[in-house]
Amino acid sequence: MEKKGMLIALEGIDGTGKSTQVAMLAKALRRMGHDVVATREPTDGSHGRRIRALYADRNSVSREEELRLFLADRREHVEKLIGPALAAGKTVVTDRYYFSTAAYQGAAGLDPVEILAANEAFAPEPDAAIFLTLPVEDAIMRIRTYRRERLNDFEQEEYLRRVAAVFDGIERPCVRRVDAGAAAGTVHKRIMRLLFP
Ligand code: TYD
Repeated sequence: MEKKGMLIALEGIDGTGKSTQVAMLAKALRRMGHDVVATREPTDGSHGRRIRALYADRNSVSREEELRLFLADRREHVEKLIGPALAAGKTVVTDRYYFSTAAYQGAAGLDPVEILAANEAFAPEPDAAIFLTLPVEDAIMRIRTYRRERLNDFEQEEYLRRVAAVFDGIERPCVRRVDAGAAAGTVHKRIMRLLFP
């Protein structure tokens, strides 16, 4: 598929503020004249809805089945939304992309290298993958205080530590790491400086 637009992915463990940054980035890009599509994974499609239902009880499916679900969701996302938007010259900003699968399903015991390869076979490489970094204990504190939630099954502390370790080990030319341990406006400025130096 021809790609005329720009693809930006925001990645990181839960609690790093991805959703806030996606909203701020989309707004800033629109002000700059970009035709922006802001989106997220898991998506709101049928696979994404099944994945959300799993939050309550991850042990109800095997990790291989879980990986298949995330891949099916991404395939649909690429075919129906990301691919066509890029072909139309739009700027796509996604809250999570395939690095999340490498990190989370990798932390669950699958091979992150194989997961990346499986994704890179069909999913367009982002122009920039912004990895928001934050110490795991700070991320967990944010989840508990701001979201007033219990950690879901994907978010248990030890597991998140392994997820963070896989994220830390991923090296790709598109990856840019941003320290997310600051006020949202400050983090936003850091992201803009990286994207538009
Ligand atoms: P999250 O971004 O927290 O969605 P929401 O804010 O809508 O709840 O993503 C949900 C969880 O799914 C999160 O803990 C990470 C996990 N996840 C994976 O394990 N693999 C993936 O490929 C993706 C995209 C997400």
